[in-house]
Amino acid sequence: MSPAVRVRVPGKVNLALAVGPRRADGYHDLATVFHAVSLFDEVSITPAEPGSGLRVSVEGEGADLIASGPGNLAHRALAMLADRAGLPCDVDVAVRKAIPVAAGMAGGSADAAAALVAGAALWRVRADDVDLASLGAELGSDVPFALRGGTAVGTGRGERLTPVLSRGTFHWVLALSRTTLSTPAVYAELDRLREARGDAATPPAIADALMQALRDGDAHALGGALSNDLQEAALSLRPELARVLEAGNDLGALGSVVSGSGPTCAFLARDGEHALDLAASLTATPEIRSVRCATGPVPGARIIAD
Ligand code: C5P
Repeated sequence: MSPAVRVRVPGKVNLALAVGPRRADGYHDLATVFHAVSLFDEVSITPAEPGSGLRVSVEGEGADLIASGPGNLAHRALAMLADRAGLPCDVDVAVRKAIPVAAGMAGGSADAAAALVAGAALWRVRADDVDLASLGAELGSDVPFALRGGTAVGTGRGERLTPVLSRGTFHWVLALSRTTLSTPAVYAELDRLREARGDAATPPAIADALMQALRDGDAHALGGALSNDLQEAALSLRPELARVLEAGNDLGALGSVVSGSGPTCAFLARDGEHALDLAASLTATPEIRSVRCATGPVPGARIIAD
């Protein structure tokens, strides 16, 4: 039987990620610029026999690292959506991964967003009845952005979004790591480093130069304005990432940055051809598992036709 609803959802990189102090609820206030890039997961849902419940299967690279039971974010998203809509939740869910797992590209949040869009379409849930972005924010800080895509400033813990006007398309090379990193561990490491230095975290803000580069569609300026407060914590936990970033710089990337909490590193290229050259050269770096070329911005979770 063909799937009833199939949704494609992109991963993201953070063009800037400024992290404020740890809050009482354990989260950190952020000012970030999310940018959706063309590495896509696919989530398909098919109605199942009444009473059969929710079954999730995951395939693709890194699938073995992902829970298929209630720990899976797509599973939780559909269970919560059905509950809020007052509907039974008897569906088979198939997740096809292309966004690297536990890699700082919000793959789990992407799958939750895709599951919400698929479930809302299958069960004809109206936006007036259940607000998918607020439900998404309960599932993970990056889920509202995965629903929307494009380029957007995120504040609060990342869930409050304002779209960013940006011109043109940017070309990226993503260096996938041989290891994974846990997001809470990277935030905790940043707190530890700041405390050891006696640094008081300042209120997070985005540099004007970055916003101007996006408005101008200026890849050179954007490359120079990429920044990530979590980078030093990711490097502290995975020192080998310094060599990956250095390799990209040596090979002429316009800018290099750890994506989110890492360990994926993102390199900005001049254009598509430069991205292919850069990707080919980076494959020789021993710390890199594999490389992907991607463009951004791209739209968020969307239904696709067969
Ligand atoms: O919201 P999400 O489940 O994606 O967050 C995963 C973890 O990342 C949180 O439990 C928290 O440790 C950390 N985090 C944070 N501040 C944020 C977002 C995430 O400390 N703004």
